[in-house]
Amino acid sequence: MSTLITNIGELVTNAAPDDDPGQGPGPFAALTGAALVIDEGRVVWTGPAGQAPAADEAVDCRGGAVLPGFVDSHAHLVFAGERSAEFAARMAGTPYQAGGIRSTVAATRAAPDEVLRANLARLTREMLAQGTTTLECKSGYGLTVPDEARAVALAAEVTPEVTFLGAHVVPPEYEGDRAGYLDLVCGPMLSACAPHARWVDAFCERGAFDADEAAAVLAAGRAAGLLPRIHANQLGPGPGVQVGVAAGAASADHCTYLSDADVDALASSGPPSSGTVATLLPGVEFSTRQPYPDARRLLAAGVTVALATDCNPGSCFTSSMPLCVALAVREMRMTTPEAVWSATAGGARALRRTDVGHLGLGARADLMLLDGPSHTYLAYRPAVPLIRAVWRSGELSRP
Ligand code: NIG
Ligand code: FE
Repeated sequence: MSTLITNIGELVTNAAPDDDPGQGPGPFAALTGAALVIDEGRVVWTGPAGQAPAADEAVDCRGGAVLPGFVDSHAHLVFAGERSAEFAARMAGTPYQAGGIRSTVAATRAAPDEVLRANLARLTREMLAQGTTTLECKSGYGLTVPDEARAVALAAEVTPEVTFLGAHVVPPEYEGDRAGYLDLVCGPMLSACAPHARWVDAFCERGAFDADEAAAVLAAGRAAGLLPRIHANQLGPGPGVQVGVAAGAASADHCTYLSDADVDALASSGPPSSGTVATLLPGVEFSTRQPYPDARRLLAAGVTVALATDCNPGSCFTSSMPLCVALAVREMRMTTPEAVWSATAGGARALRRTDVGHLGLGARADLMLLDGPSHTYLAYRPAVPLIRAVWRSGELSRP
């Protein structure tokens, strides 16, 4: 069943210039007066509306913009409980600390599978309604072998982009025995989680794991067939970015406090197929009242930048990629094309995916229709429910 999507005000394609489907997204690109045809869950035609081929059905966008679905490449959705009191205390002046993670760990361990599954379903529904068609989901609130294995198995029910984050913090029962906990993470916990995961991650930060510990976790994950990514330089300057680049991480996430050497390391980390993306999470700075990362410095150095939510109950409890785009534009001085590219194609790069983040020929038919004529509306009309329709693998849902 083919679908012609027509009368599009602006069609953001991010298509590679020669439209080679295997190549993944190209730079930001948009067409006006365009149409698009979906068949069998893929994009099969884009071009001027007047030249569109016939299809089994047609959708009239009435001048609304059509964009690739958002690729949210960083989220922690398997958890129970909530930490609104911690947020309120932060807004009254208490700084964010990594240790808050432990209260979510206690609630998550105590929760039955059905509670975690229902929470996950609610958050993924929220994401889809806000245009997210690909999401990454981490473990990291279990921190025992069975609780981490349960988290990655639940995450795998909703996405193929599952990340093992046993190295989130040292849990209380290992307080005096960091080495023992690392042995657990790199041994039995990794073995139990690797079958359900694609990625391995570590929180490399004061209060979490140091450079050697994080490097050991990423190396063990690699040896078990997982691909590395890292939480780096969130709460202060530190070694995380360089540990990530040295490990061949697909992405270093947060990047709030970077040295010149960190920026250089990211910029020279290699081509999209093997380099390290800087994933910025502006919802975290919004929700922790930290300074925003310097996106312009990264872009000027030629670093590939992605935007993601980091949706989690502690540092940032938003599931909204439109909010991240608006913050990136208003607070981080990204242009509207840069921010939209980073939230779609950039996320695809951070997940080393070539089939999403763009609407070139052969791409997965993941797209959203806006109640507004251009991508700029995502930042121009902040916090307004602008998404009229979302297609995921060609399947339509209307929020
Ligand atoms: O990405 N930084 C580490 N992990 C999460 C926060 C988790 C929490 O506070 O519960 C983050 O910000
Ligand atoms: Fe995170």
